[in-house]
Amino acid sequence: MKYNTVIKKVDAEIDYKDLMDNRVIEVGAEYLKADQVVAFPTETVYGLGARACSKKAVGRIFSVKGRPADNPLIVHLGEKSQLTKILGEKQNQISDRIQQLIDNFWPGPLTIIFPRGKMIPGITTAGLETMAVRMPSHPVARALITKTGFPLAAPSANTSGFPSPTTAQHVYQDLQGKLPLIIDGGSCQVGVESTVLDLSGNQPRILRPGAVTRRDISRIIGEKVIKNEQQSNSVPEGQAPRAPGMKYRHYSPATPVLLVHGDDIRGLLELLWEKKQDKPVLIATSETVAALKKLQDPDYVKVVDMGSGGDLRQVARNIFALLRKLDEKDTGLILVEAVPATGIGEAIMNRLYKAAQNNIYLS
Ligand code: TXA
Ligand code: MG
Repeated sequence: MKYNTVIKKVDAEIDYKDLMDNRVIEVGAEYLKADQVVAFPTETVYGLGARACSKKAVGRIFSVKGRPADNPLIVHLGEKSQLTKILGEKQNQISDRIQQLIDNFWPGPLTIIFPRGKMIPGITTAGLETMAVRMPSHPVARALITKTGFPLAAPSANTSGFPSPTTAQHVYQDLQGKLPLIIDGGSCQVGVESTVLDLSGNQPRILRPGAVTRRDISRIIGEKVIKNEQQSNSVPEGQAPRAPGMKYRHYSPATPVLLVHGDDIRGLLELLWEKKQDKPVLIATSETVAALKKLQDPDYVKVVDMGSGGDLRQVARNIFALLRKLDEKDTGLILVEAVPATGIGEAIMNRLYKAAQNNIYLS
């Protein structure tokens, strides 16, 4: 079905009570109750929502995004009380340490894995007996979910494999004509998707790094939090991925991306010049941009500032939008400077490694 997709603005600054009565939120909730999908802002990235309990609605998410059916979705809550509802008889699975994490990080960019409750159909969890749950902090997201009256399954609102959207315009670029409504709540504050945490094993494990860092979680539960070993999405042929969703192309613009370390940049730029590389663009920290300017190299490579290396939260906020913007222009090669993989840098590097999986080799 072809839709006339409209973008409707909602002022996220208004009082939460007024948001609940906002006309756009009301219209969005009506679509969702009728098993349609609606794109909405969260603090991390824009989500593509559908009622998590409806097989028909969730099926639409998979077809609109072109998402493989074996990649499970996150269930989004408007209020904490919805958690016990969807867990049903599995409410006793909220251990003390999970409760502590909820008290500290919800609403916010932390997704926690639970056993699947009966109300959540298998299509939402891609057949898994677990379900991923988070409560976003963006008031527009919470008002929309609460108004709908049931939690929303919501992946990032991009075409599968592309960089996640951090503005309503990004969603429109990818999904125009495939859904009735995109709710515009401005640019996302965090810019990278939520941290996904699995507490079911011997040690707490991060399945996807995000703005809530391993150290943030350790501080609350007093335990070491381990990284997922499978940080890359390149799984050898015939081998099952450890975490669902890891085996696919991710976050990649159509233009080839090359991840470079700061020290290698000058040498690499010279090499690209010698090889007459067509239209390369370098995305670098403000510090590197300043250093390159001083060298007064011929401006054969266009340089774009991604924010200060001393403020990686700012880099996280910018990175997906920059990858998208350069991809729109007629760019031949995107070079991105690596950042330290600590704190939120772990999430940034995780996304950049994946974006650069369509690797090119300079020979
Ligand atoms: O910040 C976010 O989490 C955004 C916004 C919209 O809330 N959503 C998002 O959804 O990033 P998506 O579908 O793009 O990513 C969901 C991730 C995938 O890596 C998926 O494999 C993992 O969560 N996931 C979902 N359910 C899971 C489960 N039961 N077990 C393990 N991983 C799961
Ligand atoms: Mg995604």
